[in-house]
Amino acid sequence: MNPVVLLAQAMPLDPGRHQVLHPGAPQGSGIESLYWLIFLIIAAVYVLTILSFTRAGTRAHQYATQPLPVIENEAGDRKAKWAVGSAIGITVIALFIVLIASVVTGKKVEGLTSKNPVTIQLTGHQWWWEVTYPNSQADQTITTANEIHIPVKTPVVLLTNSADVIHSFWPPSITGKRDLLPGYSSAVWFQVDQPGTYHGQCAEFCGLQHAHMGFSIIAESLDQFQAWQQQQLKPAAEPANDEASRGRAVFLTHACLMCHTIRGTDAGSRTGPDLTHLASRRMIAAETLPNTRGALGGWILDPQRIKPGVEMSPNPLPPDDLQALITYLESLQ
Ligand code: CUA
Repeated sequence: MNPVVLLAQAMPLDPGRHQVLHPGAPQGSGIESLYWLIFLIIAAVYVLTILSFTRAGTRAHQYATQPLPVIENEAGDRKAKWAVGSAIGITVIALFIVLIASVVTGKKVEGLTSKNPVTIQLTGHQWWWEVTYPNSQADQTITTANEIHIPVKTPVVLLTNSADVIHSFWPPSITGKRDLLPGYSSAVWFQVDQPGTYHGQCAEFCGLQHAHMGFSIIAESLDQFQAWQQQQLKPAAEPANDEASRGRAVFLTHACLMCHTIRGTDAGSRTGPDLTHLASRRMIAAETLPNTRGALGGWILDPQRIKPGVEMSPNPLPPDDLQALITYLESLQ
């Protein structure tokens, strides 16, 4: 079978994951163009190098089988000098083209500004992303984790920071990398034109679970974005039945409330992700697991088995308590 088809079957493409070559934003398109320019230059250099080696190899073979006397060959020397000279000239020109294209791409990627952007604070933690939509009124501030909702065709500015070590924000199909430095805020501007879910990954080694520090940018229409905002602004849903009530009691009487916030309850710690609307998220544990009952249960019982080194400690709850807790958490739309 065709090896490309075999490869595609072995690695089914997860739509949107790490696709530098399928940009969803003007910033990403600029980076893609630069990629292709450098790729084509390098491909041409590779082909020329291989051709020259092949030619030299064939000639050396001819000389070896029919040794020629060494003679002065002025025409040959001139040719060689001309060849070396033009190779150096082409190299310098190619490097300048790449340099200029890099500067132009950098300006394009960094060039977006707006008086009225969607402002989002992004804080890196070992190993998850805290996402805050600040507002001068505290009760209008949204805090979520690992999923960055934005409206399409609207400039967005991410104000980055880190709570511990250096992380790096990298959504390959949207824009380039930006390091998140503790105590130092920087602004990343971008705008997504195509609705969709774009995956990203921490791109700076930040400890044991660096590879499990994913996030998503969810670009949606302005209406959908505003509906999401309104939903996120609400306090947590009240338990709808006895099972969920018991689950909330389990949450509030165990270690959960030492680290997490659920707005509308006594849980108000900011050490771990805000769980007020946990059930509205697609994934848990920084995009490590799907947000399903089974995955959530496994994560609560023994997060160290799934992400060794993570801050969350195991919670050996009795089965009934665990089921009630999951029911409650999955009701937090
Ligand atoms: Cu955070 Cu790597």
